[in-house]
Amino acid sequence: MRNQIRKLILEAIGDSRGEKQFFGEDFIKKLNDNVFLEPLPVVSNLSEYYTRLNYILNDLNLNLIAQGHFRHVFETGNPDILLKVATDQMAGSLTAVDANLQEVNRFNRYPRFFPKSYAYDEDGVWILVEKAKTVIKNDDDFKSAIESSFECFRNLDAIVKMMIEYYANYALGILANDPNIQNFDKFDHKKFLQEIKSAFDGTHPRFSRPTIDKSVIVWIFKGVLSENAIDKRSVKHSIEYKLRIVVGNVISELRRFAFDPDEGNLSYAEEAHKRISRAAVDSRMINPIVEWLVLHFLRDRVFISFVNMIKDENITPWDIRTTNVGTNSNGELIVIDASTF
Ligand SMILES: Nc1ncnc2c1ncn2[C@@H]1O[C@H](COP(=O)(O)OP(=O)(O)OP(=O)(O)O)[C@@H](O)[C@H]1O
Ligand SMILES: [Mg+2]
Repeated sequence: MRNQIRKLILEAIGDSRGEKQFFGEDFIKKLNDNVFLEPLPVVSNLSEYYTRLNYILNDLNLNLIAQGHFRHVFETGNPDILLKVATDQMAGSLTAVDANLQEVNRFNRYPRFFPKSYAYDEDGVWILVEKAKTVIKNDDDFKSAIESSFECFRNLDAIVKMMIEYYANYALGILANDPNIQNFDKFDHKKFLQEIKSAFDGTHPRFSRPTIDKSVIVWIFKGVLSENAIDKRSVKHSIEYKLRIVVGNVISELRRFAFDPDEGNLSYAEEAHKRISRAAVDSRMINPIVEWLVLHFLRDRVFISFVNMIKDENITPWDIRTTNVGTNSNGELIVIDASTF
C-alpha cells in the first residue's frame, strides 16, 4: 500500500521534495500506516471508524471538509487537491469503492467535464482529485454555471420573449384586418409589449416569478439528460420534448394571467385589449418557436457532448444535482460526483 500510493504520487508529480510540497508533509510522512487499506467502517465498526478518522485528522493532519452519503472528503496539504475516501456505506448495490473506481475510470477521460484525478488506490479505497473552484449548492449558482458553460442556455428568456413578440406581431397584422375582430382600436400595443416584458422579468402583478426562471433552466438541463439516458429518446427529441413543455407553459401562463379578459372589474376597453392580446398569443406559435430553439440547442457542441457523455458513461442523471456539481477555474460546470447506480 505504502509503495503503491508513493509510487502513484511520484508519477503524478515527479520527485519527493515536490511531493511533500504537493500533498503536505504529514500526509507523505505517515503513509506507511495502513489506514487506507479498507474503507472507513462507519457502518460495521463505529469505534474502529473513529480511530481511523482520528488518525487521518490528527496524524495525517488532513481536514475533513465534506461528507457525502458514502465518501469522506479531506483537504490535503495542497489546496488544489482533495482526498476522497470510501466508507463501507452503500447506495443500493453500489459500494463507495465502486463509486471511487467509476470516477477513476471517468475523470481524466473527459477533462472538460470532471475534476482531474491525480492518483488513486487500485482497490478504490481512496482517490486524489482536483478541488473544484466552487461546489454548487443552490439553483441560482447551478443556473449561472449552466449558462456560462453551455451557450444554448444563455438568454433563453430573452430569446423566447423575442420570438413570442415576433409571432404575436405577425398575428396582430392579420387580426387588424379581420372584420370579425371587434374593437381593434382598443388594443394598446405598447401596453401589450409591457405586459409580456413584465411577465418575463417577474414584475407583472399576476406573476409570482419570471416565466423562465432559474428552476426552469435547471429543469431543462436535467430533463434533457434524463430523457436521453433513461428514456432513450434521441438527443434532438429529448431537447424538443422539454422545450415544448416550457414554451407551451409560458404561452398558457401569458394567456391565463397577463391576458385574461375575465379578470375581475375590467373596463370595456381593458377587456377588449386583453381579448385581442390573447388572440395574438396562442398555441400556434409553439411549433415554430420550439423548432428554432431545438436547432439552436443542437448547434451547441459542448452541451451535446455533455449529454452524450452522460449517456455513454451510463451516469445516473438524477445524481447530476446541487452538491454533486461545481465549477472549474473558468467558471464552467464540472461534475464532482459521477456515479452509476
Ligand atoms: N472535487 C471536489 N471539489 C470540491 N469539493 C468536492 C469534490 N468532491 C467532493 N467534494 C465535496 O464533498 C462532498 C461529497 O462528495 P461526493 O458527492 O463525491 O460524495 P458521495 O459520498 O458520492 O456523495 P452523495 O452520494 O451523498 O452525493 C460534495 O458534496 C462536495 O461538497
Ligand atoms: Mg455527492
